[in-house]
Amino acid sequence: MKACDEAASRIARATSVFVLTGAGMSSESGLPTFRGANGLWRTHRVEVLASEAGFADDPELVWSWYNERRAAHAAAEPNAGHLALAALERYVPSFTLATQNVDSLHLRAGSTNVLELHGHLREARCDRCGERRAITGPLASSEIAHACGGRLRPDIVWFGEALPAATWRAAAQASARADVVLVVGTSGVVEPAASLATRIPRADACVIEVNPDETVIAERADLVIREPAAVALPRLLETAGMRNGSSGAR
Ligand code: OAD
Repeated sequence: MKACDEAASRIARATSVFVLTGAGMSSESGLPTFRGANGLWRTHRVEVLASEAGFADDPELVWSWYNERRAAHAAAEPNAGHLALAALERYVPSFTLATQNVDSLHLRAGSTNVLELHGHLREARCDRCGERRAITGPLASSEIAHACGGRLRPDIVWFGEALPAATWRAAAQASARADVVLVVGTSGVVEPAASLATRIPRADACVIEVNPDETVIAERADLVIREPAAVALPRLLETAGMRNGSSGAR
């Protein structure tokens, strides 16, 4: 059986599905990935833009980058892959989607049980008192200082920081109980997120990778679909006999 047919058959029979997505998920929505030829970390210095030390040095520079990214996210639309995952959620009795992306596209596509492992850009958070504030447009330099004496920072996880504990726990539990683990558009090089696809799934879980390129996830994957997400996911759903529209089985 072809990997896609077998994957569809496993998904159709699954009672518990866990999905892990990364930047490649949003690539067909026009958003760049981090690694690879045109990756963000090729032209931007991660330690300057995505670390507490970089923010302490130059909060305005950090905010100007996140303001640009937030605007790009807002201008992007969920692609056929996001929509297929939102549809899949309606068919599976236990479904959890954990994403490393901060672009909110899974939520905008209609997925509901979403764990944002690396946070999101819908809010800013004070680095001293933790108060949150919604961000709907660019955060101006004059708004960075918070009333408590702290500074508003993007509500995302930077390098060297721990993932939000409850979010991580829920993701690890969902990965450990799933009979199908679907891994889409991640290079699998950033921990602990990658372990949700490699170390944590049960030995008898079927790990399915969707990625046009070779990754380290393939070492654990039982089935590998070397295609872009927006092509492979709608076809998986269709082959599994699930409707990829707005109304589903439950
Ligand atoms: P990467 O940029 O490391 O990997 C993106 C993956 O997507 C690569 O394996 C590509 O082959 C794949 N890809 C590209 N186009 C695709 C498509 N159309 N369909 C499916 N896959 C495609 O991004 P992540 O693995 O998400 O962390 O990176 C993990 C973390 O590293 C990010 O969350 C971010 C980054 O530094 C933080 O900012 C904390």
